[in-house]
Amino acid sequence: MTIAIYPGSFDPVTNGHLDIIQRAASIYDEVIVTVMSNSSKKPMFSLGKRVKLIEKVTENLPNVVVESYSGLLVDFADQKKAKVIIKGLRAVSDFEYEFQMALMNRKLNPQVETMFLMTQSQYSYLSSSVVKEVAKLGGCIKGLVPEGIEAEVVRYFNEH
Ligand code: PNS
Repeated sequence: MTIAIYPGSFDPVTNGHLDIIQRAASIYDEVIVTVMSNSSKKPMFSLGKRVKLIEKVTENLPNVVVESYSGLLVDFADQKKAKVIIKGLRAVSDFEYEFQMALMNRKLNPQVETMFLMTQSQYSYLSSSVVKEVAKLGGCIKGLVPEGIEAEVVRYFNEH
């Protein structure tokens, strides 16, 4: 039984994230989507809300569970007996930071392997930050985030 964790901020979860979750779920026995708190980012949605939203859009995937965590990723992997960390790669610009994190995580815990899934080309420009920027300025985010997330993001910017 191979358990993989897919960490991120997911503020909000995008169609690019969902694609990685679906593909990881078809490879690993269990995928734990892990919503990480990041003290250097001020999030739009709380950790709990992000967990609920991802649960909603992955309810059709029986081997996907969603949790939140605030410590070191490799400690969470240990707790969950996960052997794999999944990361999505979009462009070369993602590589340097992801390479650094993968090497640091390996130094911290050599038992856990980071595996990279390449994005589908139609999502290569997509990020949570771009979605927030477009929504904040009144642009259309249809097709960028899963149905059900769109209304939540639009509502947030109507209220803030
Ligand atoms: O979606 P993001 O913001 O690009 O995700 C970044 C994340 C949460 C995966 C990364 O910041 C992370 O792994 N944080 C956990 C803290 C940690 O373990 N740091 C050591 C690795 S360098």
